[in-house]
Amino acid sequence: MKTAVIYWSGTGNTEAMANAVAEGAGVDALTVSDFGGNAADFDALAFGCPAMGAEVLEEDEFDPFFTGIEKELSGKTVLLFGSYGWGDGEWMRNWEERVKAAGANLLGDEGYIVNEAPSDDDLARLKALGAELAGAQA
Ligand SMILES: Cc1cc2nc3c(=O)[nH]c(=O)nc-3n(C[C@H](O)[C@H](O)[C@H](O)COP(=O)(O)O)c2cc1C
Repeated sequence: MKTAVIYWSGTGNTEAMANAVAEGAGVDALTVSDFGGNAADFDALAFGCPAMGAEVLEEDEFDPFFTGIEKELSGKTVLLFGSYGWGDGEWMRNWEERVKAAGANLLGDEGYIVNEAPSDDDLARLKALGAELAGAQA
């Protein structure tokens, strides 16, 4: 299984989550701008992005990136994660729907969300999810 962990983070909360997922998966976490690959080359992909704007994915870099690869996610195993602030997780519910509509297998059936900074328990859980992702059979 070839696994990628790709994220956007403004203040480091989602970055910390991405590093935990990547550690569990045995790969490096890559920012959107660092990821030069093609989603089609991976069997399992983790995506991290915080709630931004008004309950949306970050609009300048992440959403355009994700929109570009969304159609290639059919049949792949996908893990979603991200940090939020004052909202109720609406951005993640919408994101989950996009991933399911694309025909991907959403690991855990929902994204892993954390209010602001992840706790040690969150990081341990994310590491375990990363390991599960890397071992998942699509
Ligand atoms: C411009 C901006 C817009 C935001 N919009 C939302 C929002 O709509 N809903 C929400 O719950 N949190 C919102 N937040 C809070 C962030 O999601 C939260 O601080 C998160 O921890 C940031 O993650 P990061 O450290 O990975 O950038 C916003 C933060 C910023 C800076």
